[in-house]
Amino acid sequence: MNIGLIGSGGREHALCKKIHESKTTKKIFCFPGNAGTSKIAENVKVDILNFKEVLRLIKLKRINLVIIGPEEPLVRGLVDFLEKKKIKVFGPNKFSSKLEGSKAFMKQICKQNKIPTADFKICRNQLDVLHFIKRNKFPLVVKADGLAAGKGVTICKTKNQVLNISKEIFDGKFKSSNKVVLEEFLKGEEASYFLIVDKKNYKFFGTAQDHKRVGENDKGPNTGGMGAYSPAPIINSTLEKKIIKKIVEPTLQALKKKKSPYKGFLYVGLMIVNNEPYLIEYNIRMGDPECQVILPRLETDFLKIIDKAVNNNLKKLKIKWRKQKCMTIVLCSKGYPGKYEKNKLIQNIKKIKLNKNEFIFHAGTKSKNGKVYSNGGRVLNISSMGNNFKKIRENIFKIIKKISWKFGFFRKDIGWKVIKK
Ligand code: AMP
Ligand code: GLY
Repeated sequence: MNIGLIGSGGREHALCKKIHESKTTKKIFCFPGNAGTSKIAENVKVDILNFKEVLRLIKLKRINLVIIGPEEPLVRGLVDFLEKKKIKVFGPNKFSSKLEGSKAFMKQICKQNKIPTADFKICRNQLDVLHFIKRNKFPLVVKADGLAAGKGVTICKTKNQVLNISKEIFDGKFKSSNKVVLEEFLKGEEASYFLIVDKKNYKFFGTAQDHKRVGENDKGPNTGGMGAYSPAPIINSTLEKKIIKKIVEPTLQALKKKKSPYKGFLYVGLMIVNNEPYLIEYNIRMGDPECQVILPRLETDFLKIIDKAVNNNLKKLKIKWRKQKCMTIVLCSKGYPGKYEKNKLIQNIKKIKLNKNEFIFHAGTKSKNGKVYSNGGRVLNISSMGNNFKKIRENIFKIIKKISWKFGFFRKDIGWKVIKK
């Protein structure tokens, strides 16, 4: 099969590697990919939101199956567009993608189906906001309703802060929507639970914990993710049963009732409070960098799984996982998530020799004349597997040291919750 993979991040390089290892893969085309994917696939330069152009290239390259990595083309309806043109594609349709594309939609699903989540109000103006402030304690969480590239959530300690941030959203700071979702603040431990879902069934697809803040000790602004590890030890089998029964099943049923059964990866973002799971967010895709720690642990042929899911045949499939643990640390451009420079040569990357449990997944990189240059904020993901998180992390540090990229930085405390000092 010829596979088309949409996206260009670390997640897509990890997906690309797994697809490359599948027995049934003939050739992979990455739209547009990065320097890492270019080694195992053909990168095709294209704006992935230009659906007509994407379709033209899919036909030109004789692609048999399309897999979509990032949220934006999903939320904008790429699956619906391609399916109409009889292209086989894996991912949720536009309606189901509102689980991530509209926090108001997600919260309404929760309310209608009694899914545990933070108390909330969908606000269209400052009066709505004042009303919610009156009946709740600080801190409060202000969220932009639509996609906001990880910049839509602020935890506010004062009334003025809530009013100012809400005003910016009402005034159109994010083009995707000008509604605000106000939430009570939940105090607990965050964890992510993943599923692969077809129209009839679903299967467990790993757990992970990521580190969203840029600085050590979880300080500083939010990022796309600075590092992650899998599995997440907080998710034991009792908690898993609750997640399935109280959150996943009611959501999938609700979408079926709305005549839009879910198909795709489902990322369940949770806050665990006193051993009870609360839904913080849904993402309609694999996480980045969570994918870079979950896929290395997957033993079953990846394309076989996707093929079963596309054909609504997941039920009989047994997905096997390795017992080993995995961690990834993201090497970022200095300045990220603020201003940073691009086009910086990553000289030593070619000299690095990895063993079979070590991986470098490229994110913001591009190749020019056979050399690798930075091309984004999050540049490389260094992943390693083993039996002990502390040793895994030390191993990752060694690899980063060998890369010794002077334009980069990384968090040295990834996994602090699972590594005792
Ligand atoms: P979201 O985009 O909804 O996942 O929010 C981004 C981050 O904000 C989450 O990963 C949490 O760390 C934090 N967050 C969001 N909602 C809440 C909440 N209701 N209570 C506490 N923290 C929250
Ligand atoms: N790492 C968080 C996300 O992929 O949304």
